[in-house]
Amino acid sequence: MTQDIQSLRTQIANEVKSASNLKALDDVRVSVLGKKGRITALMKTLGAMSQEERQTKGRDINILKDEIADLIKHQENALKKQEMDARLSSETLDITLSPRQDYMGHIHPISQTIEELTVIFAAMGFHVAEGPDIEDDYHNFTALNFPPGHPAREMQDTFFLPETQDEEGEYAKKLLRTHTSSVQIRHMENNKPPHKIICFGRTYRSDYDLTHTPMFHQMEALMIDEKTNMGHLKGCIMDFVRAFFEIEDLPVRFRPSFFPFVEPGAEIDIGCSRKDGGLKIGAGDDWLEIGGSGMVHPNVLKNCGLDPEKYQGFAFGMGIERMAMLKYGIPDLRTFFESDLRWLRHYGFNPLERPNSASGVKS
Ligand code: DAH
Repeated sequence: MTQDIQSLRTQIANEVKSASNLKALDDVRVSVLGKKGRITALMKTLGAMSQEERQTKGRDINILKDEIADLIKHQENALKKQEMDARLSSETLDITLSPRQDYMGHIHPISQTIEELTVIFAAMGFHVAEGPDIEDDYHNFTALNFPPGHPAREMQDTFFLPETQDEEGEYAKKLLRTHTSSVQIRHMENNKPPHKIICFGRTYRSDYDLTHTPMFHQMEALMIDEKTNMGHLKGCIMDFVRAFFEIEDLPVRFRPSFFPFVEPGAEIDIGCSRKDGGLKIGAGDDWLEIGGSGMVHPNVLKNCGLDPEKYQGFAFGMGIERMAMLKYGIPDLRTFFESDLRWLRHYGFNPLERPNSASGVKS
């Protein structure tokens, strides 16, 4: 390699090494390999050379060109890494910081209430079960001991879907479940006793006013074994509502009532007082209905393949929105489903303070 190429190489290599940022490096690259660059200019001198000289000089220039291109690439990678390291150390994100209040998303009161209920029932040894929103007449009504002409099957309450053919080729109308009691049936069909489950889910009825929406949520509990009795039902519900409303001496009353799938059946009332148009949960002179309950009807047990001479137990169900409205003072059911961010910011919950089984309902 001739002297001039050698010294050009050293000179360019120094320039490349001392380029301290990508812009400076690119300037060096253009000054060497660009249209008017120094190596490009050298290449152009080849034309005027003799065949012999061109061969050796041409080879040397090409080697120089490749070497310099490599050096530039190398330096470019080093500078990029340097830049990234600098960014990573300056743009740190502390994930333990609370989000800014004005940007923070909120947990919907329904989700919050479901989590609170889950924590309470998990502590009592219940498992969470699920079932489909689209049900058949059998699981929503027949297996739950609804007689054929029962008014609850009527069109005005139930959303029926268009008729379809089932596996046996029979035509039947599916429906949107009108209550989560259907999950009792599915659970008993698919699992062996004893049963101790709760279920949360959407339910549907054709109704719309201050206290009714066509879609709402229900909770259903089922406990079946060989000795569970009405005393267990009462104890379980009393413990649960007192834990949920966080009122230790909350009065709970069971009022005889009729549901086809339980015998005896009872409505659950909690104590409250009503003064000056306001409602206060707790000891008072009034009662508020919050759900239905009872001992599972022998026919329901039979329908699920259980011997009612051997197995017995209780079930109860209630509306989740209603529980949330009562606990958190939310006056209008319809607002739950309007997706109004102002409502959600007001009634929603901090996502970083979730109820959990370690700390209980309160985080
Ligand atoms: N399924 C009833 C409803 O939607 C609520 C209910 C009442 C559930 C009594 C039960 C029960 O498990 O025992 O109104």
